[in-house]
Amino acid sequence: MASLRSSTSRILGSARPSLRFASSQVRAFASVSDLSKEASQNQSKTNLSDGAKASNTASGDKPRMKTFQIYRWNPENPTEKPRMQSYTLDLNKTGPMVLDALIRVKNELDPTLTFRRSCREGICGSCAMNINGTNTLACLCRIPAEDSHDMKIYPLPHTYVVKDLVPDLTLFYKQYKSIKPYLQRDTPSPDGKEYRQSKADRRKLDGLYECILCACCSTSCPSYWWNSEEYLGPAILLQSYRWLADSRDERHEERKQALNNEMNLYRCHTILNCTRTCPKGLNPGLAIAEIKKEMAFSA
Ligand code: SF4
Ligand code: SF4
Ligand code: FES
Repeated sequence: MASLRSSTSRILGSARPSLRFASSQVRAFASVSDLSKEASQNQSKTNLSDGAKASNTASGDKPRMKTFQIYRWNPENPTEKPRMQSYTLDLNKTGPMVLDALIRVKNELDPTLTFRRSCREGICGSCAMNINGTNTLACLCRIPAEDSHDMKIYPLPHTYVVKDLVPDLTLFYKQYKSIKPYLQRDTPSPDGKEYRQSKADRRKLDGLYECILCACCSTSCPSYWWNSEEYLGPAILLQSYRWLADSRDERHEERKQALNNEMNLYRCHTILNCTRTCPKGLNPGLAIAEIKKEMAFSA
């Protein structure tokens, strides 16, 4: 999975024909198209190099400077275009992960930098962003110290941006709600307490229940980029399959019927960007294939 992930590259368009928001609302749309070029010409540089050098000389460590180019956009200045801003840190004084660097930038260089994070250990899914061209979790993404290139950090692609690295996931959560992601059944449990299942049935949920709804997969899926209003996307389809595969649920047919139309499910063309990018090592592409298989055999 790691090697697949590191070889991923994407083409990210700069606009799409979606009228999700009224035209009076000004929104930035996450795109990497021209910003890399602009970054080198137009970036404002901030760094901790002088202070870091002084203290490192004192401690005898050779400074290991790394520059992070970070997407910036402020909704309070809606007429200003998004830009890249560079920050340079000494890695000797920074934790090993990209989230450590972002936290250090915010704490010590620029308190206006905005990003989401909570657990810092790949559980909450809130620090999902596009780092060096791959959608991943900043808290699980190691800073490649041996690589001298700048790191480029953007919000999740093809999302509207709330501010800086914070994507608007309103539609994503609305789609999640639409699949009724909870146990539905009428038959009471035999002992009036728990709904039990066999070990074999429980194992069918492995690779599904671990999904943290970070949206890395959905925002890497070309079909979702162009049809996100109708197509549920890999994350929500993996969650759909999680409930279809649950032996305790009694709404199997209803769940399948809700997916059985041209847009919700069949916009998946098995491109597998979703599986390549999942930072939890899950396989949404396979979950979608399993749903299609169930549909085919029950037709
Ligand atoms: S399948 Fe993976 S990438 Fe997609 S939402 Fe779940 S954890 Fe994130
Ligand atoms: S396999 Fe399907 S869901 Fe995954 S990236 Fe491709 S089109 Fe999207
Ligand atoms: S901070 Fe929770 S997943 Fe990264």
